[in-house]
Amino acid sequence: MYLTKEEQRMLSGEEGHAVRKSMEILVALGNIYGAERLIKVGSVQVAGVSYHNLGDAGLEFLNELAKDGKVKVLTTLNPAGMDLENWKQLGISEEFAAKQNLVIDAFRKMGILISCTCTPYLIGNLPRYKEHIAWSESSAVTFANSVIGAMTNREGGPSALAAAFVGKTPNYGLHLEENRVPDIHVQVNASLTKLSDWGALGYAIGKKAENKIPYITGIKDAELDELKSFCASVVTYGSKPLFYMKGITPASENCQAPKDTLTIEEKDIKDAYANINDEVTDIELVCVGCPHCSIKEIAQIAELLKDKEIAETTEFWVATSRTAKQLADKRGYTETIESAGGKFACDTCMAVAPLKGRFKSLATTSAKGCFYSRQNNMKTKMGSIEECIEAAVTGKWK
Ligand code: F3S
Repeated sequence: MYLTKEEQRMLSGEEGHAVRKSMEILVALGNIYGAERLIKVGSVQVAGVSYHNLGDAGLEFLNELAKDGKVKVLTTLNPAGMDLENWKQLGISEEFAAKQNLVIDAFRKMGILISCTCTPYLIGNLPRYKEHIAWSESSAVTFANSVIGAMTNREGGPSALAAAFVGKTPNYGLHLEENRVPDIHVQVNASLTKLSDWGALGYAIGKKAENKIPYITGIKDAELDELKSFCASVVTYGSKPLFYMKGITPASENCQAPKDTLTIEEKDIKDAYANINDEVTDIELVCVGCPHCSIKEIAQIAELLKDKEIAETTEFWVATSRTAKQLADKRGYTETIESAGGKFACDTCMAVAPLKGRFKSLATTSAKGCFYSRQNNMKTKMGSIEECIEAAVTGKWK
């Protein structure tokens, strides 16, 4: 891979240990994937923030980089393993909290914004159309590539950090127009009436399209929250982190429908629910906010929880960014949700918090949330926000 004089200096260690290490990572990646050069990135989003996933080895790696590493571009974080302020209320142990705080301290030292969310585009890390970025979180990568039309590969935690310290990433994969051409036409003949239907659609397309880029037709309208749910699901269940939706996503007008076609019928949506949902009635945890809730979703939850009470047998979590929670505080939504017995899980989510063994069952609006909660040995149910609130209030899935 061609390196400029400045990049060669960085690789030789003139800008310190973190930059040298980062250049080594970027050059190795560039050589593996045949990149010709490095390109500037407008922002970075770093995954691998939860101590639950990092462990002591990960923490040591971050501390080493934090000694002299400073990010060169706007860099935000994916959810951590706990609510950074309210972790006790969510049942997190002192030991875990102490380690998680050390992880956050390391990121803070690097100059990263401590905005632990998988919806960075809702809190100010919003790229422009065709801008090159280096993001990690799969749902956010899919949203950025498809809904915004920015250009990013799905980075790992270390390669995203490397891009942040150098301000560049190797020019390969989804940074190149020729790799962004859709290769399967997906005609949707099913109606989508509630938020979780978008997760089911993502499941159906992800499974059928496998590792391809779908060009989706047949959808007339989509809300931002529906698209964010679809992005999380379609990439979790199989497709590349990029799709085109005719009439909805910005770049869809500039490309042709591929000849290779598959259809999604009502039956595929039903089958998706059947595969995602387990046999379970008693619900121990209800979590809405995968990806993190927007302020609009929080408003809806507050409305539905007015004058209601969460069942004693059940915990109800609203997973969101701290920024969205601050807006919710101002509008009175927090008070409504908390007086019903609900809890905010800011900065974190059900997939990255250490929940294994704590809850046997989960109800959520999210297909991706079900995928990861099953790995935490939970039985899962997916449904609308209304069905989730009903489960939280009665402790049962109807
Ligand atoms: Fe976000 Fe966690 Fe879901 S990172 S997309 S809330 S699994």
